[in-house]
Amino acid sequence: MEKLLINGGACLKGTISCSGAKNAALPMIAATILSDENVVLKNLPYLQDITTMFELLGSMGAEILLNENMDFTISTNELKEKEARYELVKTMRASILVLGPLVAKYGEARIALPGGCAIGTRPVNFHLDALEQLGASISLKNGYIEARAKKLKGTSIKFDGVTVTGTENIMMAACLAEGTTILTNVAKEPEIIDLAQFLNAMGAKITGAGTDEIIIEGVKGLHGTEYSIPADRIEAGTYLVAAVITKGDIKINGINPKRLTKVLDKLVETGAKITTTNDSISLKMDLEKPKPVDITTAPFPEFPTDMQAQFSVINALADGVSNIYETVFENRYMHIQELNRMGCDIQVSGNHAVIKGVDSLYGAEVMATDLRASASLILAGLCAKGKTKVDRIYHIDRGYERIEEKLNYLGANITRLPS
Ligand code: EPU
Repeated sequence: MEKLLINGGACLKGTISCSGAKNAALPMIAATILSDENVVLKNLPYLQDITTMFELLGSMGAEILLNENMDFTISTNELKEKEARYELVKTMRASILVLGPLVAKYGEARIALPGGCAIGTRPVNFHLDALEQLGASISLKNGYIEARAKKLKGTSIKFDGVTVTGTENIMMAACLAEGTTILTNVAKEPEIIDLAQFLNAMGAKITGAGTDEIIIEGVKGLHGTEYSIPADRIEAGTYLVAAVITKGDIKINGINPKRLTKVLDKLVETGAKITTTNDSISLKMDLEKPKPVDITTAPFPEFPTDMQAQFSVINALADGVSNIYETVFENRYMHIQELNRMGCDIQVSGNHAVIKGVDSLYGAEVMATDLRASASLILAGLCAKGKTKVDRIYHIDRGYERIEEKLNYLGANITRLPS
């Protein structure tokens, strides 16, 4: 298994560009199932999860072509299989995103039930309840969700809990339903707005994405389009944290700062100086030590759970004590034990972490447990004394495009060690 070897101590400086967002791209790839024509996706990030989603579509009979500009043309017309097999679903839970499109377009789907994962139990009951309300009949057999519907019918649905991929799944399904669907208690993440814009570009009629109520008027079919994946706000946030903890001075191009308002507010609280344009964020850290910041994760527009692990590293080095409350996932503190092995002083009790700032971290051999946890270990390695070796980096390759290349470009010293 490949590892990353980080020689700590560099101060990050320079300019990098943000890659396309994984969590915007995955539902868009799934949404191509709804189209009667070819769809071209541009600016897709080169990530393991994107490859897995293509593998899933390919296993159902989709044709995927890549041109010299790295644009993907996806043709899902007349899929032969309407099944997501366990081998793929177990490696990527977002495979559940093909459920809504398959039932809406073909009237049937068989999707392996995702199990628990490193960050929590993560059930899909909200997706299934809402799909049933659209008229699908759903049964669970031999570890698979089997869903059928002659024709989905629009209705009013209030989600029992806020779910990002659940909102996306039902928004996609409702596009081809008969009549109007009104969704409430929906997720409002920027990726929901991205997906609605993408579906509308294919001929869907969606309004209200990004607000408390999404209205979808069903249409007979969707046509092809060409669409560019927007920038990854969590990737940008992760590099901004890297600049804070290395007393750096960096600029990230291609990212709309409005997607990161809560994160930028908290970065300013640490003492960092931030300047923005419509599509860039610059951060300079002059303080010797960051100020501690209290954080409570919650659905957008609140502080994202996907930035919690990275902020643990800022707080671990801060001048004082801070509190983090993780309210989205029940088990998203797997990085803490590893961070403590690098000299952090963090105590976790339930969903509450108390972080006492320490003077310095030291390099160690550590193990990544999930995507954002791996990011936090790499960040800790950047500012630790000596060498940090991060194992199981396949987690990081799922969601950060060429992370060591981008950090090295800013002055870090990271080497990918072969298996
Ligand atoms: N939940 C249920 N039942 C459901 C669905 C969700 O109880 O049917 C619970 C979950 O267990 C969790 C909470 O609701 O406690 C929120 O989960 P949500 O469904 O919103 O998460 P998700 O859609 O599976 C997406 C992102 C995650 C991100 C979360 C929260 C994608 C592909 N994944 O997951 O991204 O953390 O929203 O913002 O969009 C990551 O990129 O590292 C990542 C994990």
